[in-house]
Amino acid sequence: MRGMSSSAIRELLKLTQQSDIISFAGGLPVPELFPVEEFRAATDRVLVKQGSEAMQYSTTEGYEPLREFIVHKMAQYNIQAAPENILITSGSQQVLDLIGKILINAGDLILTERPTYLGALQAWRAYQAQFVTVPIDGDGMQTEQLEEALCAGPKFMYILPNLQNPGGVTLSLERRRALIHITDRYGIPIIEDDPYGELRFEGEHLPPLVVLDAEKLDSHTPAGNAHGFYRGNVIYLSTFSKTLAPGLRLVWIVAPTEIIRECVKAKQGMDLHTSSFVQMVAYELVKDGFLKDHVRRIRQVYQERRDIMLDAMTRHFPPGNRWTWPHGGLFLWVTLPEIVDAGAVLDRAVANKITFVPGTVFYPDGSGHNTLRLNFSKARLEQIKIGIKRLGEVLAVELEYEEEVANRV
Ligand SMILES: Cc1ncc(COP(=O)(O)O)c(C=O)c1O
Repeated sequence: MRGMSSSAIRELLKLTQQSDIISFAGGLPVPELFPVEEFRAATDRVLVKQGSEAMQYSTTEGYEPLREFIVHKMAQYNIQAAPENILITSGSQQVLDLIGKILINAGDLILTERPTYLGALQAWRAYQAQFVTVPIDGDGMQTEQLEEALCAGPKFMYILPNLQNPGGVTLSLERRRALIHITDRYGIPIIEDDPYGELRFEGEHLPPLVVLDAEKLDSHTPAGNAHGFYRGNVIYLSTFSKTLAPGLRLVWIVAPTEIIRECVKAKQGMDLHTSSFVQMVAYELVKDGFLKDHVRRIRQVYQERRDIMLDAMTRHFPPGNRWTWPHGGLFLWVTLPEIVDAGAVLDRAVANKITFVPGTVFYPDGSGHNTLRLNFSKARLEQIKIGIKRLGEVLAVELEYEEEVANRV
């Protein structure tokens, strides 16, 4: 317990519940688009047709029709899997915890991007993991620096190739290939976390690492992937949190069957199974193609919000600040002048009824003092305009203050 701390973001979320705060903090999806009515109708249908099954205990692996749905969904991205390769879990956080349980011994090194997803750090610190990191830039993980980190002997790699949290950046195709090529020599598993891939509103969807890894494997074996099932060294996970609703806590892992079997054993010790009721309602909702149009609508809204945010930042942020230009997802990442501390900016921002997440929480070593993450999915357009203008003023005041202090010294 000594190594664990509560999530800074979840603490900030308490603040955002105050109605006069404009929050750019949490990764909250656009609430206006939650398909509440559609859920109500799907729930009715499940209760009428399969009420007692929905109320009953169920298998740990997940609701079979939903697993089959995921198989087809994954096939759209060329990920070849059978239902035996799929496990439905209660939130991505449970997957990360399962991975911690089955793969991490105290003191093990985990390779991550720098910065990376706070939820993963939180989950694995509980298993006394240590972290070795590779920095990101506008094209994702800087794979030229990967080999050095691999030489430190990590147990596995954790990476978010699409619209990364917190950076908002996407790993380029060239780097994806380089990553698979280099990692293959070290033989360590890759955990590919992909909650945002479907939320890309600009540019082309790039092949997932799991696909490139399988292709590489097939090139070693001339017969190719004759069996048409999941192969390779990648554990892939994704979620309905950003495309349907995070309140469902509905997530899936795609992995080799040996890994799924171990995860199933570990999950039985946690919660027996993910809510059968929720799985059945979600399946009822998505089975006839609901997601396609729904996700298209979400993308449109996010693109509009991102554009407004970027435009407001260009107008109102003082010179010396830099930021990423995400092609989708929920976040963008700001680098402040070196002398400015994002924690001090947050104090001033909260006094002005604005929140964001200071970047240090995403750095395993606590660095990144002059960075911060902005979420563009939750606030409405007018709030984004007002909030970014106010944040620009706060940044200018803080910069002036820091320059004054530096001059005095
Ligand atoms: C990197 C990453 N993984 C997973 C998730 C989704 O979490 P969950 O499925 O637990 O809602 C998020 C959401 O913030 C995320 O940013």
